Amino acid sequence: MTRIVAAFVLALGLLAPHAGFAAESRHATVYKDPACGCCADYIEYLRRNGFEVDVVETADVSSVKAIYGVPAKLAGCHTAILGNYVVEGHVPVSAINRLLAEKPSIKGIALPGMPAGSPGMGGEKSDPLVIYEIADGPAKVFATE
Ligand code: CU
Ligand code: CU
Repeated sequence: MTRIVAAFVLALGLLAPHAGFAAESRHATVYKDPACGCCADYIEYLRRNGFEVDVVETADVSSVKAIYGVPAKLAGCHTAILGNYVVEGHVPVSAINRLLAEKPSIKGIALPGMPAGSPGMGGEKSDPLVIYEIADGPAKVFATE
């Protein structure tokens, strides 16, 4: 019994820092137009992948993008805020997890437009999804999926 308790305490000690980090960083606030169906599908995708999501509906998503520094050429439909980062459009979770793990000094990442086959969008992807950094200066590629 004592040994089981000791093992449990040890396991908690090992897990706790990671658990705390995950709980903090896996919360997202998504700004979306109430009329957008693919945004709702993307929110479900985030939830299925373990994110806790608050949804803010607004008919003026472009003001949200302006506030968080998303340039027009990188705009998608909805805008997600995760901690200090902005995640714009139908960005795959693998790229979000890399952003949260590596913590680069950029504003966030974006998958511009609404490409077919991206998470929350229907259809088949015809080209690789190119996810860009949102940062000052020219847009650099963050990930290709
Ligand atoms: Cu969309
Ligand atoms: Cu959307």
